[in-house]
Amino acid sequence: ISRNFSTSSVARAAIKNVTVVGGGLMGSGIAQVSAQSGHNVTIVELNQEVLDKTHKSIQQSLQRVAKKVYKEKPQEGENFVSETLSRISTSTNLTDVVQSSDLVLEAIVENLAIKHKLFKSIDDIAPAKTIFASNTSSLSIGEIASVCKRKDKFAGLHFFNPVPVMKLLEVVKTPETSDETYEKLMAWAKAIGKTAITCKDTPGFVVNRLLVPLMAEAIRMLERGDASPKDIDIAMKLGAGHPMGPIELADYVGHDTTNSILNGWHDKFPENPLFNPLSSLQKLVDEKKLGVKTGEGFYSYK
Ligand code: CAA
Ligand code: NAD
Repeated sequence: ISRNFSTSSVARAAIKNVTVVGGGLMGSGIAQVSAQSGHNVTIVELNQEVLDKTHKSIQQSLQRVAKKVYKEKPQEGENFVSETLSRISTSTNLTDVVQSSDLVLEAIVENLAIKHKLFKSIDDIAPAKTIFASNTSSLSIGEIASVCKRKDKFAGLHFFNPVPVMKLLEVVKTPETSDETYEKLMAWAKAIGKTAITCKDTPGFVVNRLLVPLMAEAIRMLERGDASPKDIDIAMKLGAGHPMGPIELADYVGHDTTNSILNGWHDKFPENPLFNPLSSLQKLVDEKKLGVKTGEGFYSYK
């Protein structure tokens, strides 16, 4: 297949049926933006109870979009919500749904062994054309793909929270990802309305490799008592034009997530001081003060 052929409308149409595994914070957003752009989406979760919660959160997020986009035309807004939801189905049986899937995108827990188990369970049964992708924040795509035979059809698709709002998608190419797979994913990124950048399979890709050390440095400032959380945040918002300051952002991302990213990178690259673990972050995690999602982190949201 020539380059021209694979970037044509044929490649664009190549991904029509999308399976999103994991309907949590990220998976629900990914399913939403895929369905909004006309793709058929199936969300796979561990049980029906979580799927009901996923459905509800997508519905609420779509209503938020509709309120904005169809401000003057509420009926069209209602149609938009119901039509988008009609393209989303749910399942607890991954092996069933992969049969008709062009793309299986995983957004489950950030744990290599669990991600391995998932991809291993479908590699032999998914159609040969099916592309596998991971939304991991910090793990190596090549290491996740190592349990699969289809390494040429494996890539990273890294989204940002909140998915319906953040415009970027990082498309991560391992040395084994084929050009055809990469081009299909770049075309899909465009089709779902995201701006895609190309990343190598390096820790944190581009955004997290910069954002995680930024948040860590801000927390080190707090540990040294250099400035208050509020002043650090005001500084980066008004002095550097960031939408959120780094302490606010750490509360937004979740301290369990940032802490596990830092610890994972520190274990792998102990010589890099930017990845040194943070005792105050560990303390917040131990106290279950994970940020916005638990109502308290560096700030209180109660
Ligand atoms: N669904 C639909 N729409 C949503 C939404 C959602 N879940 N969340 C927010 N919005 C919309 C709102 O409706 C609003 O729209 P209008 O402005 O058109 O009315 C718009 O987004 C802005 O929202 P708010 O007014 O509530 O709040 P805000 O202006 O303070 O913006 C923010 C919120 C978009 C989150 C902004 O503060 C921001 O960009 N923060 C930085 C977020 C960031 O850096 N994310 C990346 C984190 S790192 C990551 O995700 C990677 C990883 O691997 C950990
Ligand atoms: P989350 O905890 O909100 O959601 C994970 C979901 O996966 C849960 O609902 C859980 O029930 C489900 N799940 C777990 N194992 C499963 C399995 N075997 N099959 C089906 N469902 C399963 O987590 P999240 O914040 O959405 O993160 C998901 C992934 O996205 C992680 O790899 C994370 O690193 C990455 N990520 C997170 C963010 C963020 O800001 N939170 C941003 C980008 C990428």
